[in-house]
Amino acid sequence: MKKINIAIDGPAGAGKSTIAKLVAKKLDAIYLDTGAMYRAVALKAIRQGMDTKDREGISLLISKLDIKIRHIGSEQHILLDDEDVSKEIRTPEVSIGASNVAAIPEVRIKMVEIQREIAATTSVVMDGRDIGTFVLPGADLKIFLTASIEERAARRHKEMIEKGITHVSLEEVQKDIVFRDRNDSSRDFAPLSKAEDAVEMDTTKMTLDQVVEKIISLVG
Ligand code: DC
Repeated sequence: MKKINIAIDGPAGAGKSTIAKLVAKKLDAIYLDTGAMYRAVALKAIRQGMDTKDREGISLLISKLDIKIRHIGSEQHILLDDEDVSKEIRTPEVSIGASNVAAIPEVRIKMVEIQREIAATTSVVMDGRDIGTFVLPGADLKIFLTASIEERAARRHKEMIEKGITHVSLEEVQKDIVFRDRNDSSRDFAPLSKAEDAVEMDTTKMTLDQVVEKIISLVG
């Protein structure tokens, strides 16, 4: 089968990861959650007591960083210095840290290199903020997913509870999303934005199946 690259971008909680995973399964492609990579960088910085906005310090950290992506079934696992941190990266503190480190060009350059390497050899459905605009400008299909802020917060909150993170309130999740929407859209280098040739889908009132079917129909 022909190699295919699909870019799915959009703000936090728009449903990117759930949808990208289902689309990848249908197309027999790998699902790559690029947000997890920025989260792993943030986790490392936080564990070392660093400020996630410290460009110089984080740039140094990134030069010695060991991040590996593994797939177990359809689940992506992320290894930081060979430790599986897939669950540890899902806290609100790491979310904010990830948004901060993602604004540092040195971090993005390193992450994008890994992402492009994977896409060059494998069929991949990649989700993030800059996949259609920067990481894979030549992707076969670009989707930009949105949903209302209330719906996005509710989805993220439910997802966290399902992952065993039960101590964070819906209000905290919504506050975190509002902060990250602003931070991710306003950075200078590869901000969150819709690629000109991306298909925009507002998923607020759509079911998962409807969104997945629409994307599959666009693959052709
Ligand atoms: O998708 P996520 O919520 O796990 O992403 C965490 C943060 O990482 C998000 O606030 C912005 C950043 N990010 C990014 O800048 N570019 C990407 N391709 C993916 C995530």
